Amino acid sequence: MMRYSVVDHNRAAIGVFDSGVGGLTVVRALQKQLPLEKIIYFGDTARVPYGVKSPETITGYAGQITRFLLGKNVKMLIVACNTMSAVAYDSIALISPVPVLDVISAGADAAARITRTKRVGVIGTPATIQSDAYPRAIRGRDPEISVFSKACPLLVPLVEEGWLDHPATRLIVREYLAPVLVNSIDTLVLGCTHYPLLEPVLRQEAGPEVMLVDSATSVAEKTALLLQEKGLQTPLSEPAAASFYVTDAPLRFQKTAETFLGRPLDHLEIVKW
Ligand code: DGL
Repeated sequence: MMRYSVVDHNRAAIGVFDSGVGGLTVVRALQKQLPLEKIIYFGDTARVPYGVKSPETITGYAGQITRFLLGKNVKMLIVACNTMSAVAYDSIALISPVPVLDVISAGADAAARITRTKRVGVIGTPATIQSDAYPRAIRGRDPEISVFSKACPLLVPLVEEGWLDHPATRLIVREYLAPVLVNSIDTLVLGCTHYPLLEPVLRQEAGPEVMLVDSATSVAEKTALLLQEKGLQTPLSEPAAASFYVTDAPLRFQKTAETFLGRPLDHLEIVKW
């Protein structure tokens, strides 16, 4: 078990991880909500996408990343990937001596709070949808809610390719949303942290009646509460620089990250496993 003095522990970073660029949506929400907190981000760009892999493989990767971030003495972890949250949360929490938040609980909280008609759509990777984690989490909060899910395996590669506003992306989004929208939902959970990068297209295709739930914003709100409850807020008064670690293609990651976060990355390092 790691030991820290209280001050060092409060100064420590929040560890955030995803299979690629998707978790940047969580970084952006955190930087808005908690600008003074230091973030260490890990994107497994060599092995993305995770969402089409088996639970065993995903759990193995998640354990490796968790240990890497714990080695950086983070004060808490955020699983900024619905796929890892859906299939590997328990095993991550088991090896972590620091608190772990995940995007599925945060997204389910928001969906149950927002829906008026109690008809909620969820889109995610095949692994997330097959795990049934969202319907369980949403109905655990309100058993009267009907959940309509759809796996969207092509969306993560389109985001990683940077095709955020491409005619092909729009066509594919329309095709994926059709069987969900036919159920007259009033709330659509973006059950993959890559999807908020497609928000303009998703919003247009879902139509004005449907509220979009972005679990990145919800998890940032939960993080602020957790730091307060545990007395873990940073004592620093200047915005902290974030560090980024990726397993491949750092230049491509840097380009997407800088465009999305709207600022240059101070520290980007490649990790070779
Ligand atoms: N962004 C991740 C998620 O939230 C994973 C996408 C993937 O690697 O397939 O599900």
